[in-house]
Amino acid sequence: MSDQKFTSSTCDVPAGGTVPRHVAIIMDGNGRWARKRFMPRVAGHSRGVESVRKIITRCIERGVGYLTLFAFSSENWRRPADEVGFLMQLFMRSLKKEIARMHENGIRFRVIGDLSRFDEALVRMIRDAEAMTAGNTALELTIAANYGGRWDILQATNALIASGDLDGPVTEETLQPFLSMAFAPEPDLFVRTGGEKRISNFLLWQLAYTELYFTDTLWPDFDETAFDKALASFSDRERRFGRTSEQLSPEERARAGSHKGHA
Ligand code: IPE
Ligand code: IPE
Ligand code: MG
Repeated sequence: MSDQKFTSSTCDVPAGGTVPRHVAIIMDGNGRWARKRFMPRVAGHSRGVESVRKIITRCIERGVGYLTLFAFSSENWRRPADEVGFLMQLFMRSLKKEIARMHENGIRFRVIGDLSRFDEALVRMIRDAEAMTAGNTALELTIAANYGGRWDILQATNALIASGDLDGPVTEETLQPFLSMAFAPEPDLFVRTGGEKRISNFLLWQLAYTELYFTDTLWPDFDETAFDKALASFSDRERRFGRTSEQLSPEERARAGSHKGHA
């Protein structure tokens, strides 16, 4: 449940800012990165962990408050069993290896998604890591694992009904506390590496007014410089949330320097 007051880009215009408060990333292109080097696809997944480390550090340096990473989609079970198995092992190994350092660096760790299909040992490790880091505030890091945007909306709806608190129509305000990302503001910036231009069932509800950024760079090649480019692109966007350009506040207009001619 939410530990934050209700905020919604469709109910209120969110506060602006040149640095995104929340960045959500689809880390795509690991398999192609490896195949290009005549290596097995899974070598790309291993290498991708290094990019995760780099981007976490950069987020803290740049003052991004929330980083959400898509690690495994509800549709990724369709992959060959040995690749799925490798990804689970990699997740477990990386968590074991990194959690102490993340805690030292003040990172709050969370996992969203349907964990019911995961190994008991992995779920226990995840819950322990979440509990250990619950008081940290330097960066709220969320890993989406066996996550799907449709699953999220449906589980939230079912949880709302089951709560017995529903005494009228479903509204954004009644549903929001049950969504997986209720604790965070909606993403300001979405990044997808690997060249595909699609959402692939990531945060469908939460991306309503998120700025989208697509790059051909494959995830294992995505480094601090590449991330800075995404941040620069974001700082240049005019975020209107349905209003006209003329309605933006002077601060909002100053931020979108390159869009002055846009009516
Ligand atoms: C993203 O890389 C990682 C996961 C989906 C787990 P891919 O494995 O999808 O890499 P490509 O898209 O095949 O190159
Ligand atoms: C999206 O990548 C999911 C993750 C990065 C975890 P996919 O590689 O699974 O997406 P599609 O299949 O190309 O849409
Ligand atoms: Mg892919």
